[in-house]
Amino acid sequence: MTGPLLSIRDLHLTMTSFDGAAHVLNGIDLTVQRGEIWGLVGESGCGKSLTGLSISRLVPTPPATYRKGEIRFEGRDILKLPLREMQDLRGKRIGMIFQDPTTNLNPAYRVGEQLIDVALAAASHDPSVLGCPPGAGRRERRRAARRLAGEMLERVGIPDAGARLDNYPHEFSGGMRQRVLIAMALIGRPDLLIADEPTTALDVSVQAQILKLLKGTVADHDIGVILITHNLGVVAETCSHVAVMYAGNIVESGPVSNVIESPAHPYTRALMAAIPTKASKRGTLKGLGGTVPNLITPPPGCRFAPRCPLAIPACTAALPGAVDLGADHRAACIRLEALEHV
Ligand SMILES: Nc1ncnc2c1ncn2[C@@H]1O[C@H](COP(=O)(O)OP(=O)(O)OP(=O)(O)O)[C@@H](O)[C@H]1O
Ligand SMILES: [Mg+2]
Repeated sequence: MTGPLLSIRDLHLTMTSFDGAAHVLNGIDLTVQRGEIWGLVGESGCGKSLTGLSISRLVPTPPATYRKGEIRFEGRDILKLPLREMQDLRGKRIGMIFQDPTTNLNPAYRVGEQLIDVALAAASHDPSVLGCPPGAGRRERRRAARRLAGEMLERVGIPDAGARLDNYPHEFSGGMRQRVLIAMALIGRPDLLIADEPTTALDVSVQAQILKLLKGTVADHDIGVILITHNLGVVAETCSHVAVMYAGNIVESGPVSNVIESPAHPYTRALMAAIPTKASKRGTLKGLGGTVPNLITPPPGCRFAPRCPLAIPACTAALPGAVDLGADHRAACIRLEALEHV
């Protein structure tokens, strides 16, 4: 396969409710190659989860309508695939860790059984998952699947993992259930993993352990990852690339080192200025003024213009296209030159 693992082009998504039609994704472009970990960042409500859910085709249509654009997974247009093929991709090739973990474990089955099922399913398309010799019998494969489940639980930091396999989900705390879901996603050995705020609820040391595990998985198995997070520190530590979203647009994207060291878009700069540092005192954070706009009647042109300190009348005339800053670093802003002098 020579093309990218994932390619999203000019994706437009509208959500219709009683209040009207909200233009929640407004021309998303994103390319993910194997071996890359993309951080998807931006304020609450900017469309991060809907982008992730769209890739798994889990946004119900209606109320959603994809007005324009495409999502290609290894060249195949996901939005046009027959449902059966999509379900097959979703189970085996595209893994997802959801933002809300409470809904994703079956309360009626032991945690170990659920992990073993995923391992056996993954082994049916990639026999190396279980590490069994070819022609291994059912019992041997199940034993290997249980061993793998225990190992993975241990690697996500569940104490006494082997014994915990026999527990039911309700016997785990919320943070532990989240870790079970992360283990489950990694056991499934997807080619593309979409992880929506996977470690937000976890304490810092567990978070670090899981992000390290994620990086190791990418390195060992050459998968692609989209990591949705509010935390730019996590992006700097974990990701190879980052896409900054604002009100349904990717306003800046590129290799993490370029974007974090020399942020170009005023919104990215504002986000970075809002990160608390050791030096900043509580209450003196240079926060962003204003709020994310209403997407039913979004502001014309650049959606960030109403909050942007550098906005000029031309900013509201048309949605700015992405400016190529070299080395795959892009920013959608017509005021980049003005910014250089700020
Ligand atoms: N089912 C829905 N019907 C109508 N609007 C929706 C629906 N789901 C999401 N939206 C709207 O789409 C926008 C993007 O939502 P999304 O969940 O993708 O944001 P997000 O960036 O993931 O935010 P957060 O950081 O809070 O998770 C929001 O304005 C939200 O209100
Ligand atoms: Mg979200």
